[in-house]
Order: sequence, then structure tokens, then C-alpha cells
Amino acid sequence: MNKMPNQMLIIFGASGDLTARKLVPALFNLYKGKHLPENFLVLGASRSDMSDEEFRSRVVGASSYLAEDVRREEASFIKGFAEKLFYHDLGSSYEEGYEALASRIQSLDKEFRTDGNFIFYLSTPPEIYELIAKNLCEQGLTDESHGWKRLIVEKPFGYDLATAKALNQALQRFFKESQIYRIDHYLGKETVQNLLVTRFSNSIFEPLWNRNYIHHVEITNAESVGVEKRGGYYDKSGALRDMFQNHLLQIVSLVVMEPPIGDQAEEIRNEKVKALKSLRIMRDEETLHENTIRGQYLASEINGVKIKGYREEEGVHPESTTETYAAIKFFVDNWRWKDVPFYVRTAKRMPTKVTEVVVHFKSPHHQIFQGSGIRNKDNQLIIRIQPDEGILIKFGVKVPGQGFKVERANLDFYYSSLTETNIMTAYERLLLDAMQGDATLYARADEVEAAWEFVDPILKYWENGKTVKTYGYSAGVWGPKNANELIDGYYMWRNPGANLADDPGFCIIN
Ligand code: BG6
Repeated sequence: MNKMPNQMLIIFGASGDLTARKLVPALFNLYKGKHLPENFLVLGASRSDMSDEEFRSRVVGASSYLAEDVRREEASFIKGFAEKLFYHDLGSSYEEGYEALASRIQSLDKEFRTDGNFIFYLSTPPEIYELIAKNLCEQGLTDESHGWKRLIVEKPFGYDLATAKALNQALQRFFKESQIYRIDHYLGKETVQNLLVTRFSNSIFEPLWNRNYIHHVEITNAESVGVEKRGGYYDKSGALRDMFQNHLLQIVSLVVMEPPIGDQAEEIRNEKVKALKSLRIMRDEETLHENTIRGQYLASEINGVKIKGYREEEGVHPESTTETYAAIKFFVDNWRWKDVPFYVRTAKRMPTKVTEVVVHFKSPHHQIFQGSGIRNKDNQLIIRIQPDEGILIKFGVKVPGQGFKVERANLDFYYSSLTETNIMTAYERLLLDAMQGDATLYARADEVEAAWEFVDPILKYWENGKTVKTYGYSAGVWGPKNANELIDGYYMWRNPGANLADDPGFCIIN
């Protein structure tokens, strides 16, 4: 590993939930693992009136997200970490107060010798990203003549294609593209990165990774939770924007991409962009109607416990048609993937939390063992992204005894079996990479735009199309009743787990 340069991390929106829930715990683990540079500090900035001590108490001492660590570790160890955190009140609005912020940054930089290396982390509403970038630039804080300057941007990155393009242009006025790190926490997940390793460090998968051997690819992202306290945000977003445009299309790009020349950020990102650009964009209403399913969870009862329907959630419009379930079938227009359907779904209030990629291989071209229940015994490669991170291969074995009866067996690898390995959380890994200037796991401007190009017509159709329907599904079941109709032939979604709702109800919402 390269020596970590001294630096300061300035978090905008530091009084928000993300800082306490994800960023500070990730930094704490990096501190525990001795990954932080010798001279390092965090400066939280937002509009709350807080002292350094109050901020430290809020995100460390009294934080429920670090409670266990605080209990377990020596007080002096916790204090050592907390003392790396500082806070600056920006005043009543994000419009002003940058001069004072800049002088605070300069004096901390001098006092703690962070060498003029600054990462600015935007964890604020996206509407003010541009405003912050502009002010940083005006204060000379983007200038790299003394120390490097980087900008990490949280999602949502744009609301649609037009706004994503506008945001890219706006940020690029103040920062160079090489200074901008667009975070997608799925790329920080060990098993998402392992997709690259599985494909390109083995010689047994890549020769089969194409239309000649793969029948179809299925990607599922299911969450058992509902929208929780984020109804206000989610109702304007929906599953397509919240999960599909970013996290799922990132996974798709890693499955679809061609082998990169090497493992450098630009080499990998170039291939990912090419992959995203090869997704066939669906434009006409009939194609969009046939290849997309939009759903929303309804109230239900699971083991006697009443679960709220989406429309009853706080912050959600009572007649909302926002989707909490999105399933999309599409094709990839290139040599490798011609005619191979991809089925990708994401949803809330499913029976379990799971993210997995299932590669379904074709049946052997010539079936020797007829009549032995061979149907449905095709090979599958299942990459479990979460939970139980690992890889599962399903293959046919002979049932002991007379004749040739074929049964399907599992070859199963669990990351947890690597007991020596401490798996970093996504935020740990991504923060560490940005601190070292490695942008491989961050999305580039053209990547984000290519993903929006594909999603935009689906969004527009779902908003205005005459044939669009939103299907209701009971909280705790695997989506709308017609979910399997999306999949060609006798295949169905691989649902890892049973329905939970006592009385699965389905309906058409509009
Ligand atoms: C976030 C979405 O990006 O990812 C949330 O905004 C979602 O709605 C979350 O719950 C899921 O992340 P993970 O890592 O728990 O799969």
C-alpha cells in the first residue's frame, strides 16, 4: 500500500444522518486498523450551532452507531479518535460564510500539518452541490499548487439525464474531472469488486461468459425494510432512481464489460462506460410496456404483525404511485451479449434482504441423460453480493444407484470462511481509496450519464405513458403477481426465501 498522505476531510452536511451512521464509523474503523495518515483530521461543516466537543459527542461518544466500540475500547483510544474531529458552523445558510470556513481550514491545516491536502465531502441535498463547489473555488480551495484537492459527491447524482449532465458541467467548472469522486457505495462492497476478480483472474469462467453459453442473467436487489424515515425523499425518487440507475447498473456494467487492459482506474472505467453504452435503450411505448414492471408495497400482516403500506408511510403522498419495486428486462447490443436477456429487479419490503447475480447457463447442446428430470438442472453461477457474501455454482451430479439420474449439487464458497480476512465496509474502502487518490471505485461523469441515458426513457414512460400500470404487492412477498411474466420461457425469478405475508394480496394501483 502507498504511504497515506497527510490530509483533512471536510464534510458538508456533517450534522446529517450519513455522517453519524456511515462516515464516522468508517473513519473509526480505519483509525482502529491504523490506516489513517499520521496527520489527519475531520472538519464537519453544516448549519447547526455546535462546538467541536458537541460534535464529537454527537458522532462518537453519544452515537448509537459507535456505542459498542465506545463500550469496548479504552477511553483514551476513543478520545484519541474523537480529538481528530472538529466542527465549523456555516451559519444560517449555505449561501455564505465561506471566508470564515476557509480561514478555519487554513489554520487547522497549519496547526495539524495536513499539507494542504483536502477532501471535500458533499453530504448535503444535491441542489446545493454547485453552490458549495463554486464557493470553494472562489476561496481558492480548489487550487492544487499547494497540496491536492478532491471532491466526493454523494448520490443522487442528478434527477434524470438532463439534470445529471447539468450537474457534471457545473461541478467541472470548479473542479477538474480527475478531482471529482462520485460515490456509489455498492462499488465499495467486496463482492461487487469480486465480480471483476471472478471474471478476469480465472480461466474457467471467461470463455463461457458470452451468448454461446449463457442463457440469461438475473440480478436481484431485495430489501426487507420499507422506506423507513425517508418517505419524503423516496416519494420523489422511487426505486428506479434510488437503486437501479446507480447501484444496479454499476453491477450490470461489471457483468457486461469486456476485459480491461489492466487494473488502473481509467482502464476499468473505460470498459464500464462502453458496457453501459451498449445497453439497448428502450424508447417506444410498447417495448417499455412489455419489458418493465412497476410495483408498490401494500399493507399486510407478517406473523400477526401489521406492516404499513407505502402510501401510509410518513412523508409519502396518500395517492402516490411512486414505485418501490422495479423490474426491467433488457438486451445488450454487442457481440458478446447479443440476444441474451438481462432481468434486473430492485424492491423494498421483500421477504428478505439479498443482492445477487445469477448467471444461467444454457442446457448442454446435446442431452444424453433424457428423462432424468434434467429440465431446470442447468448450470448456474450465483454471485452473492449480500448477505452471506460468496459464490455458488450449481452443477449436475449423478444420483447414486442404477441408471443415470441427474441431481443438482452446490459448490459453495463463503467469504466468511476466510477467517483471517477482515472485510472492510463499503464506506471504509471508498474513503480509503479517495484518500489515496484511487478513483477506480468511483463513477466517472460519462459513466453516470450513460446510466441515465438508459434509465431516462423508462422514467418518462412511467411518469407519462398511457399503458403504464403500478401493481400493488403485499409487504413481505416477492413482488407483484405478474412478476414472473417478465421472464421468457418456463423460467422464474430465483427467490431465495418464501413469502412472508400471511395473506398475499395483489392489485392494480392505477
Ligand atoms: C441506498 C438507497 O443507496 O442504498 C437506500 O438510497 C437503500 O434506499 C440502500 O436502502 C441499500 O444499501 P445496502 O448497502 O443496505 O444494500
